[in-house]
Amino acid sequence: MRILLLGANGQLGRTFLDHARLAARGEVISASRDGVLAHGGHGEIADLSIPESLPAVLDRVRPDVIVNAAAYTAVDRAEQEEALATRVNGEAVGVIGNWAATHGALVIHYSTDYVFNGESAQPYAVDAATGPLGAYGRSKLAGERALHASGADHLILRTAWVYAAHGQNFLRTMLRLGAERDELRVVADQHGAPTDTRLIVNASLAALDRWQQSGAAQRRQLRGVHHLVASGATSWHGFASAIFEQAAASGVLARAPRIIPIGSADYPTPAVRPAWSLLDNTGFQQQFGFPLPDWRQGLLEVMRQLAPSGH
Ligand SMILES: NC(=O)c1ccc[n+]([C@@H]2O[C@H](COP(=O)([O-])OP(=O)(O)OC[C@H]3O[C@@H](n4cnc5c(N)ncnc54)[C@H](OP(=O)(O)O)[C@@H]3O)[C@@H](O)[C@H]2O)c1
Repeated sequence: MRILLLGANGQLGRTFLDHARLAARGEVISASRDGVLAHGGHGEIADLSIPESLPAVLDRVRPDVIVNAAAYTAVDRAEQEEALATRVNGEAVGVIGNWAATHGALVIHYSTDYVFNGESAQPYAVDAATGPLGAYGRSKLAGERALHASGADHLILRTAWVYAAHGQNFLRTMLRLGAERDELRVVADQHGAPTDTRLIVNASLAALDRWQQSGAAQRRQLRGVHHLVASGATSWHGFASAIFEQAAASGVLARAPRIIPIGSADYPTPAVRPAWSLLDNTGFQQQFGFPLPDWRQGLLEVMRQLAPSGH
């Protein structure tokens, strides 16, 4: 099996590469925007902002499985660059889907809680009505629709509040600011489930294994959208408090700053964020036989990676 990993240098892409179990499933060909890999060396060049360039790469690699971890993820900047975000997150995904449909490849693609408007009072079901609040969410929804319309075999895995020990994410921002300041103000009226990239990778591999073991009828049922997030719920304020508690306990920070809860209105951003980002993940757990633990478990594991030796 040949597996093409798009977006190899992102938070999720890097965790896929750190994970030897992906390589155990087949030959992994990594691709990034310019072909340079963060881990060193070179891979394929796959620039999703030039969708028409992608079929040539796909023809050369001829993957059986395409894992698309590449995306335009600058949520605020997308408000000014919606056309670019839509090319990367929407059109390119359609082109990948069309190639996969013609060549019998499976596409594993990632989407987001931002396809919803956040006005729900309960976790969003996979078939709940979408209604993105901003350009990034609209571009990701365009990608979901383009992949569906391509007719390719696909798994769209919606995730949320993604973080890792590496890359740009809330946890790393908090640790940086927490080392510099005695007090931080953090939004307490947005709710979600922080999801670490190792959980996403392990769950994606379980989904791939289930797909490979399934016959045509079962694949028809698995095809489509799934919610791949950690279980439980918190706010950004709750997540920050847990990060600092564990960071102080594990020696990542000498001391925890004071965390002041604020409302979204006190922290205006160019893109409006959904207030309610919880996704119902029970279907994923049942269909792929993979348990999705509470978000605190992932935090413990990431903090363990960051802790100085001896802790
Ligand atoms: N981060 C979150 O909180 C979050 C939440 C919900 C869903 N998701 C989804 O989860 C998936 C993985 O996200 P992530 O957190 O790993 O994102 P990330 O760390 O921002 O990584 C995205 C990767 O995509 C690459 N990329 C951007 N534009 C590209 C282009 N034109 N051509 C090729 N590659 C391009 C980036 O390349 P460079 O390294 O060159 O910039 C980067 O390596 C995405 O589908 C995202 O929408 C993320």
